[in-house]
Amino acid sequence: MSTPHRSIRSYVLRQGRVTDAQRRARDQWLSRFGIPYAQCALDLDCVFGRAAPKILEIGFGMGETTADIASRHPGNDYLGIEVHTPGVGSLLKRVAELGLKNVRVIQHDAVEVVERMILPASLDGVHVFFPDPWPKKRHHKRRLIQPAFVSLLATRMKPGAYLHVATDWESYALWILEVLTGERRFANTGDAFAPRSEHRPLTKFEARGLNLGHRVWEVLFRRV
Ligand SMILES: C[S@@+](CC[C@H](N)C(=O)[O-])C[C@H]1O[C@@H](n2cnc3c(N)ncnc32)[C@H](O)[C@@H]1O
Repeated sequence: MSTPHRSIRSYVLRQGRVTDAQRRARDQWLSRFGIPYAQCALDLDCVFGRAAPKILEIGFGMGETTADIASRHPGNDYLGIEVHTPGVGSLLKRVAELGLKNVRVIQHDAVEVVERMILPASLDGVHVFFPDPWPKKRHHKRRLIQPAFVSLLATRMKPGAYLHVATDWESYALWILEVLTGERRFANTGDAFAPRSEHRPLTKFEARGLNLGHRVWEVLFRRV
């Protein structure tokens, strides 16, 4: 996958919704817990200052799930990627308030980060929770989960590492299942969709959807 000429992205940057508190938090904590985007690979053990399992989360939104999982699993290191400043500010603030030492954040397009900054066979797990569904057919090409990106992710994962995706959009769920099933370096941990993971806390976003009668589909594959 070549990124320099990539024009289709899985997000649209919405400016102007950043509160002063979110911007202050981002500016205050980014130098401590943030990693600037660069076109060179990271030594993740060096970044976190220890050898521990490394979990990548793509599109953490406001970061509630990231902070919750990281605080419950202090033995793992979590690298979160998100493009939106409010979410980055919000997660950084939480990380500072909770005194979490096992979270780092990159504010940049995850496709480019994975391609340029993550070394082959360096990840123990990947979380993609509620990626933007891009429901209109003409926008399906913007969906994050695409064969080329999944194939790239597979190269960055260690054998045995897991990829966990959750969505509340049925057609996207079916597409994700199809794409992951088609990637020879992944094996499904179940028959089709996985049962709800205890690992993943219920976010406000998800709770709202469930109250509206939405269903959630979970997909859990392992790198062979
Ligand atoms: C629907 S939200 C879900 C947020 C969160 N995971 C949750 O469950 O509440 C999807 C998020 O993915 C982010 N995103 C989409 N494409 C991305 C990309 N290529 N790189 C980084 N973040 C991305 C968006 O900015 C958005 O915050």
